[in-house]
Amino acid sequence: MAKMEVKTSLLDNMIGVGDMVLLEPLNEDSFINNLKKRFDHNEVYTYIGSVVISINPYRSLPIYSPEKVEEYRNRNFYELSPHIFALSDEAYRSLRDQDKDQCILITGESGAGKTEASKLVMSYVAAVCGKGAEVNQVKEQLLQSNPVLEAFGNAKTVRNDNSSRFGKYMDIEFDFKGDPLGGVISNYLLEKSRVVKQPRGERNFHIFYQILSGASEDFLCKLKLERDFSRYNYLGLDSARVNGVDDAANFRTVRNAMQIVGFMDHETQSIFEVVAAVLKLGNIEFKPESRVNGLDESKIKDKNELKEICELTGIDQSVLERAFSFRTVEAKQEKVSTTLNVAQAYYARDALAKNLYSRLFSWLVTRINESIKAQTKVRKKVMGVLDIYGFEIFEDNSFEQFIINYCNEKLQQIFIELTLKEEQEEYIREGIEWTHIEYFNNAIICDLIENNQTGILAMLDEECLRPGTVTDETFLEKLNQVCATHQHFESRMSKCSRFLNDTSLPHSCFRIQHYAGKVMYQVEGFVDKNNDLLYRDLSQAMWKASHSLIKALFPEGNPAKINLKRPPTAGSQFKASVATLMKNLQTKNPNYIRCIKPNDKKAAHVFNDALVCHQIRYLGLLENVRVRRAGYAFRQAYEPCLERYKMLCKQTWPHWRGPARAGVEVLFNELEIPEEEFSFGRSKIFIRNPRTLFKLEDLRKQRLEDLATLIQKIYRGWKCRTRFLLMKKSQIVIASWYRRYAQQKKYQKIKSSAIIVQSYIRGWKARKLLRELKHQKRCNEAATTIAAYWHGTQARRELKRLKEEARRKHAVAVIWAYWLGLKVRREYRKFFRANAGRKIYEFILQRIMQKYFLEMKNKMPSLSPIDKNWPARPYFFLDSTHKELKRIFHLWRCKKYRDQFTDQQKLIYEEKLEASELFKDKKALYPASVGQPFQGAYLEISKNPKYKKLKDAVDEKIIIAEVVNKINRANGKAASRIFLLTKNNVLLADQKSGNIKSEVPLGDVTKVSMSSQNDGFFAVHLKEGSGAASKGDFLFSSDHLIEMATKLYRTTLSQTKQKLNIEISDEFLVQFRQDKVCVKFIQGSQKNGNIPTCKRKNNRLLEVAVP
Ligand SMILES: Nc1ncnc2c1ncn2[C@@H]1O[C@H](COP(=O)(O)OP(=O)(O)O)[C@@H](O)[C@H]1O
Ligand SMILES: [Mg+2]
Repeated sequence: MAKMEVKTSLLDNMIGVGDMVLLEPLNEDSFINNLKKRFDHNEVYTYIGSVVISINPYRSLPIYSPEKVEEYRNRNFYELSPHIFALSDEAYRSLRDQDKDQCILITGESGAGKTEASKLVMSYVAAVCGKGAEVNQVKEQLLQSNPVLEAFGNAKTVRNDNSSRFGKYMDIEFDFKGDPLGGVISNYLLEKSRVVKQPRGERNFHIFYQILSGASEDFLCKLKLERDFSRYNYLGLDSARVNGVDDAANFRTVRNAMQIVGFMDHETQSIFEVVAAVLKLGNIEFKPESRVNGLDESKIKDKNELKEICELTGIDQSVLERAFSFRTVEAKQEKVSTTLNVAQAYYARDALAKNLYSRLFSWLVTRINESIKAQTKVRKKVMGVLDIYGFEIFEDNSFEQFIINYCNEKLQQIFIELTLKEEQEEYIREGIEWTHIEYFNNAIICDLIENNQTGILAMLDEECLRPGTVTDETFLEKLNQVCATHQHFESRMSKCSRFLNDTSLPHSCFRIQHYAGKVMYQVEGFVDKNNDLLYRDLSQAMWKASHSLIKALFPEGNPAKINLKRPPTAGSQFKASVATLMKNLQTKNPNYIRCIKPNDKKAAHVFNDALVCHQIRYLGLLENVRVRRAGYAFRQAYEPCLERYKMLCKQTWPHWRGPARAGVEVLFNELEIPEEEFSFGRSKIFIRNPRTLFKLEDLRKQRLEDLATLIQKIYRGWKCRTRFLLMKKSQIVIASWYRRYAQQKKYQKIKSSAIIVQSYIRGWKARKLLRELKHQKRCNEAATTIAAYWHGTQARRELKRLKEEARRKHAVAVIWAYWLGLKVRREYRKFFRANAGRKIYEFILQRIMQKYFLEMKNKMPSLSPIDKNWPARPYFFLDSTHKELKRIFHLWRCKKYRDQFTDQQKLIYEEKLEASELFKDKKALYPASVGQPFQGAYLEISKNPKYKKLKDAVDEKIIIAEVVNKINRANGKAASRIFLLTKNNVLLADQKSGNIKSEVPLGDVTKVSMSSQNDGFFAVHLKEGSGAASKGDFLFSSDHLIEMATKLYRTTLSQTKQKLNIEISDEFLVQFRQDKVCVKFIQGSQKNGNIPTCKRKNNRLLEVAVP
């Protein structure tokens, strides 16, 4: 916060002017003086609007510390003194916040500080963007790709000890929050000629020296290298060591960086093997050997080196040896092999070394890209950083310089396109008043080089592809013909011979007037370098290597993939890749860093005015300032502008209804922005001064804060209010509940107190009342008692008096009665003695009888004949009367009972009566039979189909049908028989079949005998001589003896009018055929129940054991 309050500005403590736009007066001198003044005060950065001019200080300045990073972080571009960090911050924030892809274009001559600037930009972005383990690893990999590429792609030149010998464009990719995701590096044309030859005072690529100085003995031995630089032909000796450069330390840095970037150990090993092989290739030497045909043939001088190379790379020695001696040309299925002379052999060797190295470099870039590429597929924001080799003018300039300078022309072109031309054209398009500013447009030079028909590159290609002998000279001739009239092309031999007498221009050269100055190119080597040929024998030899990396570097060596078409030339390849780059840059928002070299000596504190002046001129910086000053610093379409600032004015906030332009007008009027500060274009608003924009931005920021505060305020207010209301509501609820509770409590307390008081009062009152009542009662009681006593006394007195009176009256009456009695008795004595005694007796008797009968009437027993109750007699003299009365009553109630009978019941009772007369008190079995009803037909013959025959045989009414045991006369055993009694007969039938066994007419039955005991044994005696009696009398045993005997008796009586003799005796005789057998009843065991067991004892005796 404290930092925020310090309102610093570009204008504070300014040395000279920080922004050239503010320079007054504006001319070349003041421009340079301003730069110089600032440079002398260690201010190496100066702005032209948003472009940063950077002057190489050639010494380390304390302005890149982490504190500085923090200082510039999230600050407005113009807020602090000019710095590369301000530009980086601006670019990063507009990438992150406004979603605009950015590119940082760093231009300048070789040694002007481009590479350093690009590293500063990257390190700043790395410092301010997201943090976290994953992000940090991405950052680290991105940053560490630099030392690796520098080791392989940078070299010491006369201009720069660490000159980039390749072009590099790096896209850093970010996610939506601005965290780095990864990156993609594109490399442009490595200056590979340096591998085999370096200009005076320059070195080969750093990596060679680094290996030899930094690798351990062991590692060197593995690579078959020696530490001594002078052992190697490819290493320029005059500047092998560079002041202030520690190759050994750098080697360690590089290896470490390789590890961080993600190279595997075996990959690193392979890379260094290739580097060693390249270095050793330089040591292969050839000697001529005469051949029969008179031509020289090259032979390898010392095969030791070749052997070691082959061991290192796993190539068959003979194959490589042959590839250095022969060349096979394939044309239309014909193979022609020609020998190489020494010069050709050297050419082949160098071509191989250059190819090996440059392909290794491209492979490295691809490999690094693999490591650093973004893992996710989400939409990415991109920040491109372009660090391409700077404009170069050497003593001897060759194809490489031509290409490098062409690239710089293109960059200048895009700068012009985007800043000068585009800006002016936009003003015209938008209808803004504008005075045209002259500037040099280098499109014409670009056209000279890249025109598809007449461009130098096109002609070079044409030459290279042309059949016949092609040399650099024929190429120059062609140039002289075609480009002679071009303003920027100079040559001694050109048609218009403008330069015929220009001795500074040798015949073998041509000169181009680049935007940055004239450069003279040696034509020698152009054709070769453009062709970039490697003999097929060599590429095939490489492909055959067992070293996988080398094999991969030469895919065209695969015989299966032979391609007779020529590969594209180096020039056309480069042209194409530059075109792609330009297209890519045009899609992004450009940020410029223009690097300026203060002197040629790489010296600190030295400011060479002329050198700087030259750079300023060709960079067109002055025109840049002019355009800036004449123009507008900022423009924006109306809609986004209104959208961005509408909160600054009441009319436009929150919604503006109407055209956006009108809205912006209203807005600017309201804000009272001076009229000269802005212009209205057709579709855009133009703001002249950055300050105005910053003012707007500040106002906006302030307003946003206010709005945020307002929203916050309203929200907080609302929140507090709702909370308050809720609390209030709750409080009321709680209070009401509490009050209710308190009142309840209070009420209960009052109530209970009232009750207590009440109860006390009531108690007191009650007691008082009770006392009174008690008093009253006592009084009453006392009165009553007194009264009672009094009444008692009175009553007793009265009673006494009455008793006295009564006694006296009684006495009088008694006396009177006695007297009267005496008188009467004296009178009637004579009458009374004759009749009175009898009459009194009779009267009393009458009275007693009357009373007896009346009482009997009430005490009558029930009408049941079996009721034995009878009241006790009251007087002894009534005994016989009482018994008689009982008998009469019994007879009467029996009659009453009988009168209810139906005829059938009558019949049953008649039978029962008969049985009683026959057996009562004679046979022990009788009492048990009284209760049993006589059913007669126990067997229902008519209903049982089994006995149908039997039923048919008997047509009379059946009186008895019952199963009886017939006793065998011979042995006394029992057998079941159906016993039927009809009106006239007794029938015996088999129980099972129902067949009639015997039939006895009733007239033949003479007697029935039975014991007096409790058994069902009986004998039926038959008339002697009758048909049925042939076998003798029948012996039976039956459960219904009494009934059977009774019915037999009654039926016989009604049929024959004779009483059947029934003998009841414990010993009787029966007739069996001729024998008279005595049936004797003895006491038997109880085990067979009531059933008697018979035993024929002998001819005369049958014993029946009865229970
Ligand atoms: N900002 C700087 N601070 C200190 N030294 C610098 C700075 N920029 C460049 N240099 C010095 O200048 C040398 C050349 O810079 P470099 O970026 O390699 O030039 P270029 O890439 O333009 O050829 C560096 O090696 C370094 O010593
Ligand atoms: Mg560089």
